Amino acid sequence: MADMDNFKEAETFGLNTPQKTIGFPIKGASNLDWGMKNRLSRIFGKDGKSLMLACDHGFIMGPTGGIERIDLSIVPLMKYADCLMCTRGVLRSVIPPTNTTPICLRSDAGSSVLTELNDNVMMAVEDAVRLNASCMAMMVALGDERYEGKTVANLFRTVDAGQKYGIPVMGVTAVGKQMARDARYFRLAARVCAENGANIVKTYYTEGFDTVVASCPVPIVIAGGKKLPERDALELAYRAMNDGAAGVDMGRNVFQSTNPAAMIRAVGAVIHKNLKPDAAYEMFQDLSK
Ligand code: R5P
Repeated sequence: MADMDNFKEAETFGLNTPQKTIGFPIKGASNLDWGMKNRLSRIFGKDGKSLMLACDHGFIMGPTGGIERIDLSIVPLMKYADCLMCTRGVLRSVIPPTNTTPICLRSDAGSSVLTELNDNVMMAVEDAVRLNASCMAMMVALGDERYEGKTVANLFRTVDAGQKYGIPVMGVTAVGKQMARDARYFRLAARVCAENGANIVKTYYTEGFDTVVASCPVPIVIAGGKKLPERDALELAYRAMNDGAAGVDMGRNVFQSTNPAAMIRAVGAVIHKNLKPDAAYEMFQDLSK
């Protein structure tokens, strides 16, 4: 029997203060369960926007320039990122478990740059749970005649698995060889990902990007793509945000920069402070001195 001596009677009912109904700021996520919302909030928490730092390139490209040593190049940048996108191999071998930056876990695999796209497989969701992932990322190759169906099915099944444990899924659009990287393609790709259950979609920026965002019911983040001069990469981020992106999932334009720490901070200012490209570039230059 519980000890009832000195039991404090309930009396603080706040009778004149109705319990607040709390809205949820992330696009398309209002009807999700608490765990999903909590994980999405880790990624987009501050203002509904996110600076995701991608360093998963090695899973297809090997030791790409800038990420030969993730312990030396990426780990020191993590404090500036809202989320780190990486593979489970790097997470277990290099990322300190004391890290509190949310993880977007690359959750499919199959091909390397040495071969063509091949039969991608999905990671077991239990491993994402073990690794405390905030999100699982799955490639979707729309327009690729051989692997479109396979990769859409992988996304679809990963959403099922993610729902079971409350882990959101990011659909990563890989542009099929026959497809132009234009707004028409990305509208279709983003929408297909979202309709199949993706909670976040990653695309590339293109002219007419505002229509891609408008017709996608969940947040879109853009990949940076190949290395650009810093000012151009900051302009790319600014344009995407201006057109309604929820953030970037940027890799090479950060870790291949002449000053990655300055670059990630400048990109962060574009995303969270709406800094214009010239001001952001000035910030990059000042931090590089
Ligand atoms: C895409 O599937 C890759 O896994 C990268 O995460 C992505 O391309 C973002 O990196 P980057 O900004 O270098 O293109």
